[in-house]
Amino acid sequence: MFKKIGVVTGGGDAPGLNAVIRAVVRTAVRRYGMKVFGIENSFEGLLDDAKMRRLKPSDVIGLLPRGGTILGTCNSGSFCRYTPDGEVIYPEEPMEKALENMERLGIEALVVLGGEGTLAIAEQFHKRGFPIVGVPKTIDNDLAATELTFGFMTAIDIATEALDRLHTTAESHNRVMILEVMGRNTGWIALHAGLTGSADVILIPEIPFVMDKVVEAVKARDASGSRFTNIVVAEGASELGGEEVFLENGTASKVKRLGGIGEYLRRQIEEKTGKEARTVVLGHLQRGGSPNSFDRMLATNFGAAAVHSLASGERGRMVALQSSLVITVPLEEAIVNIKKVTPDGQLVRTARDIGISFGAPDEPPYVV
Ligand code: F6P
Repeated sequence: MFKKIGVVTGGGDAPGLNAVIRAVVRTAVRRYGMKVFGIENSFEGLLDDAKMRRLKPSDVIGLLPRGGTILGTCNSGSFCRYTPDGEVIYPEEPMEKALENMERLGIEALVVLGGEGTLAIAEQFHKRGFPIVGVPKTIDNDLAATELTFGFMTAIDIATEALDRLHTTAESHNRVMILEVMGRNTGWIALHAGLTGSADVILIPEIPFVMDKVVEAVKARDASGSRFTNIVVAEGASELGGEEVFLENGTASKVKRLGGIGEYLRRQIEEKTGKEARTVVLGHLQRGGSPNSFDRMLATNFGAAAVHSLASGERGRMVALQSSLVITVPLEEAIVNIKKVTPDGQLVRTARDIGISFGAPDEPPYVV
């Protein structure tokens, strides 16, 4: 049985990270008598002289509802590099330093909370024989091996509330309101929030849209007397034959960041319909703050299951939700595929059944 384990949070934060940390600490200490150390600022805390701190059950009091991560996080640190053609490489030097530090400090295993990028680094540790268990985190819900990642349901709640609020102002002013949501190259947040927040048009990366179809929906609603339209667009959505829209990077941002499709739509819609349109970019409000009750539950189950996985002798696994059960899957499998919205899947079909347009070229004429 391990005596000392570490816990790491990596990549963009998501509501529920602290809830997982709490469950890891409580389970490891209460069930297995382990000592838990929190590694600071993602894997970076394993470098130099190592920045980590002991986490006892008394240190995790009050963490269940708390947003962010008490350990700090970062997006792309020293453990991976990108070649000019976008290929990821994992330099040997930081990995060796981290392993050396963990040996020196007696850390025998790691619980790693992260999305695809962080878990791919975790897999590198596993390949070198170091005991690892992954916990899937991302508001984007784009990890293939789990039905849900924690943080996603909270992001949906926030986007739903935003759409509800935009609805009333859109209606009052007879305007087109566009809500741009996160999700990277997947449309899960836009699709779910579009359904729960009663959007008229949902635009997602998996279904490239044509502007004429979006304009057709706005005009059809106008003609029917519903003189406002609510559109939710995923940051990674693009026009058929077009490209994704990226933000201009400041000097401190190292990677290209998606964003701006909402503003592009606004200009096009105003020009083509003569109607006033406004764009709201929901941004990091989807990630900050307290997890909802579902994410608290999922995070707690994931945290406890991660410790059980290590304690039972499993190696290189990731906890996952499948058919309402928390199970473990090989980490390797979990990081190879991104889970995308199926363009003819049930959620898209339901949305179409109730009259939501995806702006697809082959969609029948929009009927209100
Ligand atoms: O993966 C989570 C996410 O919030 C994406 O939806 C978004 O594209 C990205 O991270 C933004 O990351 P940041 O602003 O932290 O660089």
